[in-house]
Amino acid sequence: MLILGIESSCDETGVALVESGMGGAPHGLPRLLAHALHSQIEMHQAYGGVVPELASRDHIRRVLPLTTQVLEGAACTLQEVDVVAYTRGPGLAGALLVGSGVACALAAALGKPVLGVHHLEGHLLSPFLSADPPQFPFVALLVSGGHTQLMRVDGVGRYELLGETIDDAAGEAFDKSAKLMGLPYPGGPGLAVLAEYGDPAAYKLPRPLLHSGNFDFSFAGLKTAVLTQSQKLGPAVLQEGSTIRADLAASTQAAIVEVLLKKSMAALKHTGLQRLVVAGGVGANRELRRQLNAACLKAGVRVHYPELHLCTDNGAMIAMAAAMRLDAGSQQAEHRYSFDVKPRWPLDSLA
Ligand code: KG4
Ligand code: ZN
Repeated sequence: MLILGIESSCDETGVALVESGMGGAPHGLPRLLAHALHSQIEMHQAYGGVVPELASRDHIRRVLPLTTQVLEGAACTLQEVDVVAYTRGPGLAGALLVGSGVACALAAALGKPVLGVHHLEGHLLSPFLSADPPQFPFVALLVSGGHTQLMRVDGVGRYELLGETIDDAAGEAFDKSAKLMGLPYPGGPGLAVLAEYGDPAAYKLPRPLLHSGNFDFSFAGLKTAVLTQSQKLGPAVLQEGSTIRADLAASTQAAIVEVLLKKSMAALKHTGLQRLVVAGGVGANRELRRQLNAACLKAGVRVHYPELHLCTDNGAMIAMAAAMRLDAGSQQAEHRYSFDVKPRWPLDSLA
């Protein structure tokens, strides 16, 4: 069965084709045939963040050419597609409507069913596309620009929320701190590069809720502490090549990584599970991976990540989540082209 997936929840337009059933990968999982991505980051950089209206307009321009590219890459025709999947939420309403509108229009024209996918379930299941796929059950650390959650995952659609951020997401903490250091949007990857040249112990920054005894996170206070520290340090914080700037970046990253690490290890201990899955854009952070790998090795826990290029938003994770939901029988694709979207949609409400 061929599943076309369309992602358009924020500032990346992603399209992918996945094959499940007889044509799947040797381990029985669906197989990625082709995917294509257009990032709008450069367009939004001029505004220092995502402009929703511009995002929607750009998705409209990109989605069909990307679909053609994917079909050509997989040497398939549109008529061969069995199900059209799209991101139903959470995300920007206008941006989601583009993906769902196009998916429903294509499916209606082909007489094929559609399936709306939860964006975070896409991230959560994206490590199943890697060369070293996980097995259920596992603890998932979902760290993106909009979400920071620890989940217990027992199977497709069986998600129990263990804890989440009570204010900013980890990616937001990276991005807002990076902005204070004069880095362009989204600052996370840039801050991570700067941090490699700095001393993580140079500045004492707070580790919010580290000892809260639960699995919740809070990053708003950290951003304020970075702001206060930047004001104390003066213009050197914005200066290219300055040691002060690199030290502040390294200290910020160390604070975020320590909280994510300690809470993930505590969640593993609490659940007694032996596997950790890390997904979402911040999962691309090298320092986070390095520290998690070391801690998991010591604790005898297997840790899985998506391929680096599939950490941030993409169509492959949406097609994959749809294929896994269909294979697990947890959802049917439907000939219902109402393209309703869910800009707010808790992951643990899924079945
Ligand atoms: O998952 P994603 O593409 O989008 C959302 O669903 O939000 O995540 C984007 C987030 C941004 O905040 C970005 O700065 C962060 O992931 N990010 C990183 C790195 N790469 C992406 N943060 C830290 N280090 C990185 N290497
Ligand atoms: Zn995402």
